[in-house]
Amino acid sequence: MPSKILVPVDGSANSKRALEKAVTMAKDSSSSVTALYVMEKPPTVYIESQKVLDDAMAKYKKEADAVLDEYEALATGRGVKIEAVMAQGEPATTIVNYTEKGGFDMIVMGSRGRGKITEAVLGSVSSKVLKDAKCPVVIVK
Ligand SMILES: Nc1ncnc2c1ncn2[C@@H]1O[C@H](COP(=O)(O)OP(=O)(O)OP(=O)(O)O)[C@@H](O)[C@H]1O
Ligand SMILES: [Mg+2]
Repeated sequence: MPSKILVPVDGSANSKRALEKAVTMAKDSSSSVTALYVMEKPPTVYIESQKVLDDAMAKYKKEADAVLDEYEALATGRGVKIEAVMAQGEPATTIVNYTEKGGFDMIVMGSRGRGKITEAVLGSVSSKVLKDAKCPVVIVK
């Protein structure tokens, strides 16, 4: 059983199921769970002014806060205390670096996220993390 589980979350139904899976695993062992929400910078082509960017980032942060609060409550309700963390950067790279720096020994994440629904089994974040992570990765459908 892992001792430190990282759950990258984006507020999608898949990431919620991943969090639930990690909580179940943590209950069966004594592993700790950390939920990580990575905020991406909007593409510069959409940035009309610093104010527009600041407003967009503030709205984004509020959304991320709400997701982390919801997931924290969900875990607490099941008797598992989790740590909720927010970071900024390119999601997959940030997730992989955070895993290595924090000494996590398992990643539990969704197969797809909030992106456009296509036929692809995996999204770009889950497929890059699966490729680059050095620890086991559990993909939740
Ligand atoms: N910004 C993020 N921060 C943390 N975890 C994320 C983030 N984006 C995605 N994830 C994790 O990756 C899983 C798969 O999402 P992914 O983004 O790869 O799929 P998608 O949104 O369907 O596709 P794409 O983003 O390529 O359009 C999510 O369920 C979540 O666990
Ligand atoms: Mg996505």
